[in-house]
Amino acid sequence: MDRVFEAQKTLDRLMPAVNAKRWKGKSAKSEFKANLEQHFPALFNALVELYGHHYDLHFHLDRLVRQMAAHFDNQQGHSLADTDPFWYQSEKNLGIAVYVDLFAGDLMKLKERIPYLKELGISYLHLMPLYLAPEGDSDGGYAVSDYRQVNPKLGTNDDLKALADALHAAGMRLVLDFVFNHTSDEHRWAEAAKAGDKRYQDYYYLLSDENEVAEYNTTVREIFPTVRRGSFTWVNEVDAWVWTTFNSFQWDLNYSNPEVFVAITDEMLHLASLGCDVLRLDALAFIWKQKGTMCESLPEAHTLIKAFNACLRICAPHLLFKSEAIVHPDEVNKYIGLDECQLSYNPLMMALMWESLATRETKLLTASLKRSFQIPQQTRWVNYVRCHDDIGWTWDDNVAGQLGINGYDHRLFLNRFYTGQFEGSFARGVPFQQNPANGDCRVCGTLASLAGLELAVEQADTAAIELALARIKLLNSLNLSMTGIPLLYQGDDLGVLNDPSYLDDPHKRDDARWVNRKALSEQDFERAENLQTVQGRVSDSLKQLIELRQSNPVFGSSQTEILETYNPHAFAFARIGNPQRLVVLANFSEHSLEIPGSILDILASDSVNDLISGRALVKSEPVTLAAYQVIWAVTA
Ligand code: GLC
Ligand code: GLC
Repeated sequence: MDRVFEAQKTLDRLMPAVNAKRWKGKSAKSEFKANLEQHFPALFNALVELYGHHYDLHFHLDRLVRQMAAHFDNQQGHSLADTDPFWYQSEKNLGIAVYVDLFAGDLMKLKERIPYLKELGISYLHLMPLYLAPEGDSDGGYAVSDYRQVNPKLGTNDDLKALADALHAAGMRLVLDFVFNHTSDEHRWAEAAKAGDKRYQDYYYLLSDENEVAEYNTTVREIFPTVRRGSFTWVNEVDAWVWTTFNSFQWDLNYSNPEVFVAITDEMLHLASLGCDVLRLDALAFIWKQKGTMCESLPEAHTLIKAFNACLRICAPHLLFKSEAIVHPDEVNKYIGLDECQLSYNPLMMALMWESLATRETKLLTASLKRSFQIPQQTRWVNYVRCHDDIGWTWDDNVAGQLGINGYDHRLFLNRFYTGQFEGSFARGVPFQQNPANGDCRVCGTLASLAGLELAVEQADTAAIELALARIKLLNSLNLSMTGIPLLYQGDDLGVLNDPSYLDDPHKRDDARWVNRKALSEQDFERAENLQTVQGRVSDSLKQLIELRQSNPVFGSSQTEILETYNPHAFAFARIGNPQRLVVLANFSEHSLEIPGSILDILASDSVNDLISGRALVKSEPVTLAAYQVIWAVTA
């Protein structure tokens, strides 16, 4: 098939409907048509790839185009859209992810916290899922019952619009979740399926053959093995097994059905119209299934993301996608591109910073980032230290193997280390989803508790407290200096420790991730203001680093080059490509160390300053780093 010709022919057939529509604004019509002309070929190509064998594909395309035209016409121009399209490359960016209720109470109260966020330097606010969700356990909102309704516990749709406007007025961007791998079992599509409507049963994967279920289960990874074994849940109402990758109340959508693509795109465009600037593509690796495979990161998953992206380019061109793929590093990188996700979480760097902190060795961090940090020019990592989820020990086992590290054993060690079972460990984490079959497990906990502050405070050990504070600063300063958008996680800005109160809540007790999802109190905010408290010191040191980052363009668009330090405990990289250059040096051990002064040669100047300490560095001499110290070296 000549795809170019067929795309044009199809567009010609669809255009009369676009022209016949009664547009509210004249310019809306011509802008939409221009976008459509430009991006329809990509959309067509992707959808033919996925659904070319469906006799009614043209019907779905027709519907999709009408739907996009309607959304485009209804847009109210809420976002910070018309500023720099490459805003995400600036040093001014700093993100934070918060739960509306845990951070502020509800949407209106969150509006009152804007001054706090502004003062911290936040430019990018990710609100965890805030849509209607089942009572009780809703996987922290990741089981969506209605994408078009704000959860009444958090406020109203109008509150959300008002918040979006207030954020934009304050120069901040809004990030919302697009939870599209699954809906809750209370979504109207699932309800219709349960009521016996065959059309909606085809929105999900319903399997009546137990052998088929078993066949899939042999190749598919178990994500929540303590919830239930395998990836399917028996549902009486439909007399079948339903595909549930995550919790049993989260039903995976069936994207092999083109109607599902069109229907969920309608929901996505609704979210776009709420005034958000970035959509976080939740669990995107799982959206395509094929028997005999792991059903993760299949080529069709990428084709689907390309199709969604083309819809955005046509309908809401200012919006970006952020990928949430917590998978093998090579697979993470494949989602990143201007035609898929312009932004992506950086789980590799996150996990390996923690790995280096435990081992005091940086070889795996250095080797892995050398291999995987580079992504296409105009795309960016979203770097983070902690998030609302667990830490999974993701890295490439081949890279580890070449360094003499056995991936499987090393993960067991890290789990023991971060759950405090390894002798001498400073960490206070909680195990998550221990798999009885293979011993696999992940770790939960706040930045402060995992970095040793909880234990040190409990033991009133002042030396240990200093070390814990230095570890927190180390991770924050790397996060704030690598190319990308640094993303904080609520409470880590305030130095909060683990919160065990989830154990008293029957809906949370079995999900250890709640240990790092504390409902923040006034006291938490006040304590962080007080320099006499450890929380105050965490917060103060973070604020200083943020200020340095945001006032130095070298942290903006320049690229990162990982450097060799010739010291097993040190990690280093350079930021190059801007007139000003930067070299970052970090010591991952509690002993001081030296790095040859030649590492600063890349700065091509004899006069070098450390931005963090304000001290001058002498290039001809080795650079000495104290315990966990980080240096941001720039030309003076
Ligand atoms: C993502 C979320 C996680 C959730 C899962 C299922 O990984 O970050 O919290 O459990 O998706 O939606
Ligand atoms: C797994 C999944 C990831 C999800 C997480 C939730 O790591 O790969 O998508 O966020 O589990 O715990």
